[in-house]
Order: sequence, then C-alpha cells, then structure tokens
Amino acid sequence: MAKTIGIDFGTTNSLITVILTEKARYFLDGSNTPYPSIITYDSGVPVVGKAAKSRLENAGVSNVGDIIRAPKRLLGKGSKYIEGKEYQPSEVVRDVIRYLKESALKSSEQDVVDHCDFEKAIVSIPVAMDGRARSELRDAFLQAGINIVQFVHEPLAALYAHFRVDGNMTNALEKYHDKLVLVYDWGGGTLDLTLCHILDNRITQIANEGDNEVGGDYVDEAIVDYVLNAELKERGLETTPPVQVGARARLLDFCEKAKIRLSTRSIEHIYVEDFFAFDDDTDPDIEIELAREDLDLISEHLINRGLSKIDELLKKLDIDQRRISLCLATGGMINMPRIKERLIEKFSIDRLNCSDRGDRIISEGCAWIAHDNARLTLAKPIEVREARNSYLKIFRAGTPLPIVGQGTPDESIILYCVDPRDGKAKIQLCRPENAQQMAAMDSRVTYDNLVVPVDPELKPFVERIELKLNIDHNLILSAKAKSGISQKITEPEFNY
Ligand SMILES: Nc1ncnc2c1ncn2[C@@H]1O[C@H](COP(=O)(O)OP(=O)(O)OP(=O)(O)O)[C@@H](O)[C@H]1O
Ligand SMILES: [Mg+2]
Repeated sequence: MAKTIGIDFGTTNSLITVILTEKARYFLDGSNTPYPSIITYDSGVPVVGKAAKSRLENAGVSNVGDIIRAPKRLLGKGSKYIEGKEYQPSEVVRDVIRYLKESALKSSEQDVVDHCDFEKAIVSIPVAMDGRARSELRDAFLQAGINIVQFVHEPLAALYAHFRVDGNMTNALEKYHDKLVLVYDWGGGTLDLTLCHILDNRITQIANEGDNEVGGDYVDEAIVDYVLNAELKERGLETTPPVQVGARARLLDFCEKAKIRLSTRSIEHIYVEDFFAFDDDTDPDIEIELAREDLDLISEHLINRGLSKIDELLKKLDIDQRRISLCLATGGMINMPRIKERLIEKFSIDRLNCSDRGDRIISEGCAWIAHDNARLTLAKPIEVREARNSYLKIFRAGTPLPIVGQGTPDESIILYCVDPRDGKAKIQLCRPENAQQMAAMDSRVTYDNLVVPVDPELKPFVERIELKLNIDHNLILSAKAKSGISQKITEPEFNY
C-alpha cells in the first residue's frame, strides 16, 4: 500500500520524508540538505528553494525585495504584494509545497517515489501557530494536492522520531516511564518547547511554550545591524548612506551563512559587493571579519531569552529542573556552540541529547507517525466551569484527535441557567493549566465565556441551554450554545 508522507514545512527549511522497510527516506535537495523554504516569482511563475536563495546572493539583482525568505510567517497575516501582484498567504505556501512535492516526484530514487502516496501527509506545526494560520496551511496543502491527515506539534514529532529510531519505541517508553522529557526546538522562525510526561506507554504533552521572536532569523538581523554599525564606524559616518536595491537582503543572507560557518570555525569573512549606492567613486563594498566571540556577544540577548524560556516554563508548572530526565534539543540553531554550551551547563551532558539530524528529525517524526498510524490524543480535558472549583469534563484527556477521512469529536450537553435575572447565561469553557494537575483545586486556563440570551422572567434552573462542542481537523474547538426558550444561538471558536 502506498505510504502517507511526513512533511516539516519550516520557516527556513522544509522536508518530505517517508518510512520504507522501517527506514526513513528523505527527499533532500541537490546538496543533500532540506529545501530552503524561499520563494519568489518570475512574471507569476514560482521560483522556489535553492534557485530563489541564490538570487539573494547575486549582486545586482533588482527584485530582492520580492523574495520571500520565510513564507511560513505570512500565514494568518493577510495578503502580500509580490511583483506588484496580490497573493494570499495560502497561495505562496501552496507554491512552496507544490515545488517540494514535484521535486520529490522527480527524485532519482524512483523506488522510494513509487511507494509514496503524495496526496496524504502528516504535517508538523509550531506549538504557537493559531487556528487561522493552521487552516490557511491546510488550505495551501489542499491547493497543492495534499490532504493533511493530521497536524502534529513540531517538538512532539521530534520526540517521536527520537524514541522510535534511537531507542525502539517500547524500550524508550519503558526507560522513561513516569519521567519528564523536554523537547527544545530552536529553528529559524520559532523556538518551541514542549514538556512531555511518559506514562502508560504514552507520550503526553504537559505544557507547551513558544517564542516567535528569537528564531535564527532574529540572530541574522542582529548580525546585519552589527555589521552596518561597524562599517559606519570605520568610515566615520553618522548615518547610513543610501544602499543598492535589495542589498540589505543580500547582506542578511551573507550574515546567516557566516553564523552557520562560525559553528565550526573561529573567524569568518563577510564580503558584500556593491552594497552602498554612492554617486561618486567611494568604495561601495562591505568587508568585515566576524569572530565567533563577536557572534556570541551579538546574539547574547537572544540566547539568554531563548534559554530563559526553559526556566519560565518550569517555574509556571512548579517543576524542579532536576526532574527533567532528558532534554532533546533539535532545530538548526542548536548547532551554535554558545547555545550548546549553555544547554550542557543546564542539563549536563548525560541529560542532554543534541540531535545529530536536527534538520530532518521533525519531518522524520511526521513520517513515523504516519507509518505507525499513531493517533494523537487530547492532553488536557476541555471543561465547563460549573461553580467555584467545580468543573464538568466535556472532552476527556486522551480523547483521540481527529484525522481526515473520519469524523471529528462532538459532544453535546444540557445545562440549566442558575441566575437568569440579567437575561444572560454565562458558560465558561476552560482546561487545566497543567496536564499533571487536573484536580478541582488546580488552576485553569479559560478559553472564553459564552454568553447566551435567556428569559429574565424565568425562575432559576428552568431555562435549558444546549451546548454543543466540536474539535475540527485544524484542532479548532468550536462551541454552539442555544437556550431552549429564547432559541438564540451563540457560536464562538477557539484554538485548542
Ligand atoms: N550549523 C549551524 N550553526 C548555526 N545556525 C545554524 C546552523 N545550521 C542551521 N542554522 C540556523 O538554524 C535555522 C534553521 O533551523 P531549522 O531548519 O530547524 O528551522 P526551520 O525548521 O526552518 O524553522 P521553524 O522550525 O522555526 O519553522 C536558521 O536560522 C539557520 O541559519
Ligand atoms: Mg523547524
């Protein structure tokens, strides 16, 4: 039977993987790495991946401003003008996904291609991606001819692959039985943290934390600022002179390359030809040496912020750092020596695993989940607050999350209005803050309050309210509430 594929659509890099005969097979680009998620258009024709990336590097190109370096960031943010034409985020993402799919279909490994079902995929998403972005992402995939069977959080996919391959799932689940595992995924766009509890042969996500402002892109921007300041200082200038069209984007690309090279070298040379647009014969090039120590200083504030997310998450949950049995670090940014050192300081070498295939482990996790037909479940129940410290569970923890082709979880309950005097019944939907602390006294996060019009003349406990809840394929929770007598309906939607 043809195999469902796994796709990691990353801010910086994207990859399709499939599992064949218990082995991950990756559809890498020509240089044996994932595809750059970069896109631009040539009179409406998409140019994606390395071809788009190389345009950033070439001096003299005039349309660098139209090259989208991180299309994933467009999702949920409205349309964008490229080459003067308006594009919806889902159209731009569709073109990247279509390119990935077509490149895979053209792969030299036709024996692998023949076993793949490119119309179905398990797709990873950041923990902080909102419902609108998720549904635009699903739409983009559909337009590219791929049905997303199930979304999975990126860190969970990484852990799944780590356990599945580096151990053997059963051994790993036994080894970490009743233990806490932290997945720390620092990519180009986002830093994602997921704390998992391993129990009863299951991985449960206890809590997620994300930071969208410390990804590798922010480090690259910080290097650009540093280089420009150093250049101005050397030239004795107070303000930046005019620069060539697209020159800043080219500089950004060179800075990213320098950052990557400084993971294995101590000094790097940055040279950008024709950067400044002087109208006399002043040297227009940028030329600067960047040492690893410079990079450590430039990125210190971002690294501190990224590392502090671990403490914040644990503090919020009141968990001692020493209780973490394993920290699985993934994502391109953990290759930075300074970040690795700081993680070792925190967890020591025996509790830290810096994945040696951090650039592909998430896509691989998606492919393993597809291969195993693993069904993801709700980590925390969805509840209605009945009274102080009293909650009615509507969806229990462990409820299987929907997969495409099968129905979505629905629940419906009847509630009675306790106090109709103001003509409103208020229903508070919430969940426990921590999946390990779900008792009545433990703290809750409120999704929202539904307000249903009721008849104020009625006595308490007479007005009947029908509450219907559904979790859709984009993991969006929607609620409908209808009061029996007033027949009014209220229909909010929340991201789960
Ligand atoms: N050897 C390296 N040293 C330093 N940084 C690196 C190295 N390799 C990759 N990076 C950086 O890691 C980032 C890309 O990481 P990754 O591929 O995990 O991101 P992504 O999955 O595309 O993004 P996201 O998960 O945030 O959507 C980029 O900022 C890249 O410059
Ligand atoms: Mg990633």
